[in-house]
Amino acid sequence: MSVPSAPEQRTALVTGAAGTMGRAATQGLLADGVRVAMADISLEALETVRNELAAKAPAERLYPIAFDISDPEACSHAVEKIGDEFGFIDILVNNAGILSKNKIADTTPEEWHKVFAVNLDGAFYLCKACLPSMRQRKWGRIINICSFAAKSGGITAGTAYSVSKSAMIGLTFSLAAETTATGITVNGIAPAYVKTPMVTEQLSEEERQAVIAKIPVGRYCEPEEFAHVVRFLASTLAGFITGEIIDQNGGLQFD
Ligand SMILES: NC(=O)c1ccc[n+]([C@@H]2O[C@H](COP(=O)([O-])OP(=O)(O)OC[C@H]3O[C@@H](n4cnc5c(N)ncnc54)[C@H](O)[C@@H]3O)[C@@H](O)[C@H]2O)c1
Repeated sequence: MSVPSAPEQRTALVTGAAGTMGRAATQGLLADGVRVAMADISLEALETVRNELAAKAPAERLYPIAFDISDPEACSHAVEKIGDEFGFIDILVNNAGILSKNKIADTTPEEWHKVFAVNLDGAFYLCKACLPSMRQRKWGRIINICSFAAKSGGITAGTAYSVSKSAMIGLTFSLAAETTATGITVNGIAPAYVKTPMVTEQLSEEERQAVIAKIPVGRYCEPEEFAHVVRFLASTLAGFITGEIIDQNGGLQFD
């Protein structure tokens, strides 16, 4: 078994860190002592989150970096910059994503490609850029944020979104298969209805009522509950788990 560095020497890259779940994951990893490179589209939004989180942890343990994950060159450049600032990336949390609610009849080819470019391609570029140093160091954690939409076909989520998240599960399995026995684990989380703007703003009141009525636990998932799963998968405790998609769906589906 490979021996990882101490948590304080580990670097995580969390994409979509200015969003609700990315922020919660960043805060959780920071609480575990890990340095976090926070990626998102807007530097201003990242700075705001950094300032909020800096009240709870030293600001120098957070590195905001703005880039578009759907741009392959921007991804390689960002990984290099994070390397210069913080050292190699040990933990990659592919969390950035966009929701599209359109079902197939209303999904344009442009929308399809845009959703895939962000929800899948970005994770592919970043995995490709981070894996060589993880392999070299014989330790790494990749955590792909999938969705219950992949398993349900999308209750309120649209076709492009649901299929992109299915592909994210496929990417997780492929990379897990390629990296067994290297000290790297590759896992996914399939959340349903986390209390974020995707639910509170992008769903209509009618949709929200219908969704709550369907979720057996009778509530939405808290972003902090999601972050706990990220922290566990990122830790040494989860070293024997790879190629797993952890459901976080309040009992919507058992498998
Ligand atoms: N909210 C839910 O109920 C739910 C359920 C299942 C899965 N998810 C997934 O969890 C992840 C986080 O969702 P959230 O609800 O926190 O969303 P959010 O919209 O609050 O955060 C997503 C973040 O990704 C960033 N982003 C979007 N496109 C980007 C790009 N091209 N480059 C860099 N950053 C980009 C956004 O700026 C945003 O800050 C997403 O992948 C989402 O699909 C969410």
